[in-house]
Amino acid sequence: MSQYILSLDQGTTSSRAIVFDKKGQIVSVAQKDFKQHFPKSGWVEHDPQEIWTSQSAVMIESLANEGIKASEIAGIGITNQRETTIVWDRKTGKALYNAIVWQDRRTSAYCDELKEAGKAEMIASKTGLILDAYFSATKIKWILDNVEGARAKAKNGELAFGTIDTWLVWKLTGGKNHITDISNASRTMVFNIHEKQWDKELLELFDIPESMLPEVKSSSEVYCETSGDILSVKIPIAGIAGDQQAALFGQLCTQSGMAKTTYGTGCFLVMNTGEKPVKSENRLLTTVAWEINGKVNYALEGSVFIGGAAIQWLRDGIEFFGHAKESEKLAVSLEDNDGVYFVPALSGLGAPHWDQDARGAFFGITRGTTIAHMTRAALEAIAYQVNDVLKAMEKDSSEPTKELRVDGGATANNFLMQFQADILNCKITRPKIIETTAIGAAFLAGLAVGFWKDEEELKSLWEADKSFDPKMDDEKVEKYLHFWHKAVERSKHWVE
Ligand code: G3P
Repeated sequence: MSQYILSLDQGTTSSRAIVFDKKGQIVSVAQKDFKQHFPKSGWVEHDPQEIWTSQSAVMIESLANEGIKASEIAGIGITNQRETTIVWDRKTGKALYNAIVWQDRRTSAYCDELKEAGKAEMIASKTGLILDAYFSATKIKWILDNVEGARAKAKNGELAFGTIDTWLVWKLTGGKNHITDISNASRTMVFNIHEKQWDKELLELFDIPESMLPEVKSSSEVYCETSGDILSVKIPIAGIAGDQQAALFGQLCTQSGMAKTTYGTGCFLVMNTGEKPVKSENRLLTTVAWEINGKVNYALEGSVFIGGAAIQWLRDGIEFFGHAKESEKLAVSLEDNDGVYFVPALSGLGAPHWDQDARGAFFGITRGTTIAHMTRAALEAIAYQVNDVLKAMEKDSSEPTKELRVDGGATANNFLMQFQADILNCKITRPKIIETTAIGAAFLAGLAVGFWKDEEELKSLWEADKSFDPKMDDEKVEKYLHFWHKAVERSKHWVE
């Protein structure tokens, strides 16, 4: 009897495998970090082979740890770091070059040229994305232009492109299936999110042969089975979604207007906007959330570059404390921020400001300022940034947020969560299972194989751990936001 769903969560710094039971509870977890390569300033790469070996190792380990047989797995769901680009030879299955990671900036100058050539508007209207090196298109082009012989091979139909989901499915099926799901496709910058297909004009612009591209599937269906030599039995692969979209599904934000924030190194906010794509007037991304049973759901997304990373920096770079947990104690030791603000523009500012030249700064420091003030300012800054993005989303969607669901490591910090609710003036809910990305992929796969019946059943599995209601008086919120925005403006254009 199949009792479990296996979720493969291939992230930027680690590969994870999590087994869920019918109640949506975690039965087993295995995780392996892998190497980050920084060959030049601004370049970030992963070894595609290491991505696969780490992912397959944790998959096997997650079963072995709890004595689970492969035959007990009803289906596999895949979720992944998005945009990261791999090009490989169809015959040998070998990658031509390392995976170029979403964080990699090597194609920024080319993006600037395209902006100058007036292409940004056309790209945004088709893809919902802001023209940027973040997305896959310019990374594919870079590999074709810079790896010897690549372009000729591509023209000959000998090469395959894939985001990480595609690479994993290729490997899991022994090179039989070359597919992606629509949420991952929507992050490549060559996918037309309105027509729901690869866009010929964009492929021409980036000089990418269509023969390289995977077939685009929905996010929840039985795509194929794993090949017999990976696990002892063949298991259906039945769900795929990019990690932020999977987290939105894992949080059961399935209705228009529902939003989630993942507090990781950065903060990723995604709001479900229903069956129609909402064009952002506030520099957010329009993206596909998922497709289930022929119905496409769209979302607005805004990314804050430095979230939990601000606390990591205080811990490891400035050595204010030894453990991130201590930041909460320091913050609550004060009644107020006493006018100290921190703008964590440590690598420029993301949505909705998008200023590459902004730099980090503390403001309002006096002789009375202590480590506690600076730590509290860093935690507050996370909340202010999330607020800036959410307010932009509300303007775009013309819907006030009723409730924000949160996940990720920093949600353990109760000071941050309460402050976030206060600043947003909106209820915040932290679920019991904070592995929302992995459970989202599991839900998608489980629906496809009939392990779970429908969305209603999934909703009955989602449980809140703690909610935070706004308590702060309006005047105080206004004062905080006034000084925060003053600080942000002063940190902008610093290195111009
Ligand atoms: O868009 C990039 C995002 O998908 C990466 O997520 O969690 O691997 O850092 P994560």
